[in-house]
Amino acid sequence: MKKLISIAAAGVLLLGLAGCASGGDSGGSDAAGGGESKALDELVVGFAQVGAESGWRTANTKDIQAAFEDAGIELKFSDAQQKQENQIKAIRSYIQQGVDYIAFSPVVETGWDAVLNEAKAAGIPVILTDRAVDSKDESLYVSFLGSDFVEEGEKAGEWAVEEFADADSVKIVQLEGTTGAAPAIDRAEGFANVIGEDDKFEIVASQTGDFTRAGGLQVMEALLKSNPDIDLVYAHNDDMGLGAIEAIEAAGLVPGVDIKIITVDAVKDGMQALADGKINFIVECSPLLGQQLVDIVKTLNDGGTVEPRIVTEETTFTKEQAIEALPDRQY
Ligand code: AHR
Repeated sequence: MKKLISIAAAGVLLLGLAGCASGGDSGGSDAAGGGESKALDELVVGFAQVGAESGWRTANTKDIQAAFEDAGIELKFSDAQQKQENQIKAIRSYIQQGVDYIAFSPVVETGWDAVLNEAKAAGIPVILTDRAVDSKDESLYVSFLGSDFVEEGEKAGEWAVEEFADADSVKIVQLEGTTGAAPAIDRAEGFANVIGEDDKFEIVASQTGDFTRAGGLQVMEALLKSNPDIDLVYAHNDDMGLGAIEAIEAAGLVPGVDIKIITVDAVKDGMQALADGKINFIVECSPLLGQQLVDIVKTLNDGGTVEPRIVTEETTFTKEQAIEALPDRQY
């Protein structure tokens, strides 16, 4: 069934790449390199990665680097160590070097217009992967390839509503991702959209753990001291959930039993914790964006246009589903 879904998703993407309208000025043939297609081994793409904050990010980096290597396209790679100024520097350096395309996953949503205008003025098309920018000018990028984070938050909320159907009150701790990052904003919004309809759900604390395991551990340790009766932890990624598990165990409680845990991502370590009963539910966020990014670059290089928004296909996992999926999990 999963294979069928992947094949269908790939088909949808290919259709999207083959025949769709452009996302704005940047998506037209000018932005795609002036109409002259280059041999793949002459193309240069600059990729400005967020950092290496999570298992998801490591898998995403590996997948993108492998896809470009397989395609025979040169990929210049930089790691911004979760700092926007580093990412802006990297993008400026790609502009100076005259790369053919720039792709990046924005650390935070705002503050990109200036550097994206510089890329536009240099005629270098920009592709957003994984995270969105909050800009009114959609001509600043050709396409945004990545998950629907609001929907991910809603899926987390729906599980909570079902799991706590018989409870009178549910005290929730939310471990937020990086402040200002699209997945942190949207996953909180999606979750609130669903649980907000019922007064019995109360978010007693909501703090950032910066998408890291150490952040999840540190925040959860402190929150357990000030909030003795937590029913549910909603962590915006697996790593923070895994950090929270350590803190819960250190406090003499049983994660998954005394305190239920929902996370997002479904990387191997998260799936193992789900299979072990320490996490109760995971909303998948796929880091495997490499091949789709290569396909976008190839289409633009051939003078084609791409969809302005390409949404990644994702699912959710219960304990039983994690046990079944784990042996084949790639990351
Ligand atoms: O932008 C995707 C998010 O960033 C992943 O959920 C998280 O693990 C990562 O750090």
